[in-house]
Amino acid sequence: MPYTLPADVDERPVVIDGAGTLGRRIAAVYAGGGSDVRIFDLAAQQREAARDYVEEHAAETQQTLGLHPARRGRVEICDDPQEAVAGAWMVIEAVPERIDIKTEVFGDLDRMAEPDAILCSNSSSIPTSQMIVKVEHPERVLNTHYQQPPELNSVELMSCGETDEGVIDALIEKIPQYGLVPFRVRRESDGFIFNRIWAAIKRECLMVVEEGVAPPEDVDAMWQIFTRAGIPPFRLMDRVGLDVVLAIEEHYAAVRDGIPEGPRKLLHEYIDQGRLGVKSGRGFYEYTD
Ligand SMILES: NC(=O)c1ccc[n+]([C@@H]2O[C@H](COP(=O)([O-])OP(=O)(O)OC[C@H]3O[C@@H](n4cnc5c(N)ncnc54)[C@H](O)[C@@H]3O)[C@@H](O)[C@H]2O)c1
Repeated sequence: MPYTLPADVDERPVVIDGAGTLGRRIAAVYAGGGSDVRIFDLAAQQREAARDYVEEHAAETQQTLGLHPARRGRVEICDDPQEAVAGAWMVIEAVPERIDIKTEVFGDLDRMAEPDAILCSNSSSIPTSQMIVKVEHPERVLNTHYQQPPELNSVELMSCGETDEGVIDALIEKIPQYGLVPFRVRRESDGFIFNRIWAAIKRECLMVVEEGVAPPEDVDAMWQIFTRAGIPPFRLMDRVGLDVVLAIEEHYAAVRDGIPEGPRKLLHEYIDQGRLGVKSGRGFYEYTD
């Protein structure tokens, strides 16, 4: 029998495992859409910062995504992963973009989560097929790649190769309830759909700056003239975190021929100065608040 959502899905929490830049944004989306959310992170400071983020941004998240649930979801933080996942219908990991960490996390989640819980990875570039070595039930594992919600509200869903198609169908039906727009990735792809396109744009932007052709501010200003789009490339990279941008680019370089070194060299220069983007107060731009 293919997977179907449990009858009590709306009474059960969603769990976020890893509460950094993206984990806390995803938490705000689900709480804003009316689901109770539990947040686990190894670092107490990150758990607390994520809860504060959700409380501060819940109304704004609801407004951006057009969410009007009967009540906003409760947000709880947990220091014990076993307690965090008890009763949850879906667990979304947003731990660092490292295959060793994600492999351990999925092994643990598979042992601890409810038998009917869906286990999702928010990885930006690593297919879940590479994270399931320690998983006994891969049919409930998949990539669900969120961008920067609430503004960038697409979610790409990709099978781990053994995912029950019913899981993907059910999520495609369910997550628009949270103002999200799902897209099915039709075959395994390093970097999914939009991130592959975005990687090429980012790479060329970084090369322009690394070669001294233009500063980040000029690239962003020209981007806005040409596309009229919301967040220009260097501002968005600062929001993502330059360490995360580098990890993604390193992953592409490991799996593809011909990826130039300049973008990684430039990212290293910024990271070595502690300029990680918005999260460290400085990246390509300075952030004072
Ligand atoms: N930053 C973005 O804009 C963005 C966008 C899409 C996808 N992603 C993906 O989301 C994931 C997380 O990225 P991020 O930018 O939020 O990273 P981050 O470094 O901001 O946060 C990672 C969090 O994971 C915690 N952590 C580390 N090991 C853990 C473990 N074993 N168990 C639980 N928590 C642990 C850390 O304390 C930290 O709070 C990555 O896979 C990344 O590729 C990020």
